[in-house]
Amino acid sequence: MAAGAGTDIVTAIGAARILPVVVLEEPAGAEPLAAALVAGGLPTAEVTFRTAAAAEAIAAMSANPDMLVGAGTVLTVEQVDAAVRAGARFVVSPGFGPAVVRRCRELGVPVFPGVSSATEIQLALDAGLDTVKFFPAEQLGGIGMVRALAAPFRSVRFIPTGGVHTGNLADYLAHPAVLAVGGTWMVAPKLLATGDWAEVTRLTAAAVAAAAAGSQSQP
Ligand code: 3PG
Repeated sequence: MAAGAGTDIVTAIGAARILPVVVLEEPAGAEPLAAALVAGGLPTAEVTFRTAAAAEAIAAMSANPDMLVGAGTVLTVEQVDAAVRAGARFVVSPGFGPAVVRRCRELGVPVFPGVSSATEIQLALDAGLDTVKFFPAEQLGGIGMVRALAAPFRSVRFIPTGGVHTGNLADYLAHPAVLAVGGTWMVAPKLLATGDWAEVTRLTAAAVAAAAAGSQSQP
């Protein structure tokens, strides 16, 4: 996102510390999913445009007044427009797409493009952004790679996503450059397909507890 713009959204994501990445096949699951996440203590979600249900799901989840809902896997300008029309408060992409970033800036919606290298971080900085998704985090070298990239880019905040789970999230969150971590583990496609909302809430609460325990153990 732009420095100075959308700071309330960045603050809210940073306060949540974990961004569930949702792949919902059926929009009917959106409302109970939002309730399950809120019950687990994580009232935020990135709803991905990997399925045709994305826009409808964003609208349905946004109807829950406790939820902060954004769009994920946004690859085209058309998807930016559809996401914003549906009520998405922020946009996430797996990579740095100049047209997507430009459209988000035009609309004034915070955008967190994915980066996997120093070059892509410089592209984000050139576009006026200071918060990026780091994707796919574990496959790229995990927290070691975040540390290495954060060293020269001192103004950049990262949202590492990809291979993150309850067992390793504290390592990421301990780094001051990490705003939050993202992932699918508490909203695994099988849980959504079977409507196992109790398990979504249980895994969400466990993730929130792990994040809280990690921050307590910091000096
Ligand atoms: C994403 O698009 O952010 C990833 O699919 C999330 O990765 P994960 O499934 O390993 O959490």
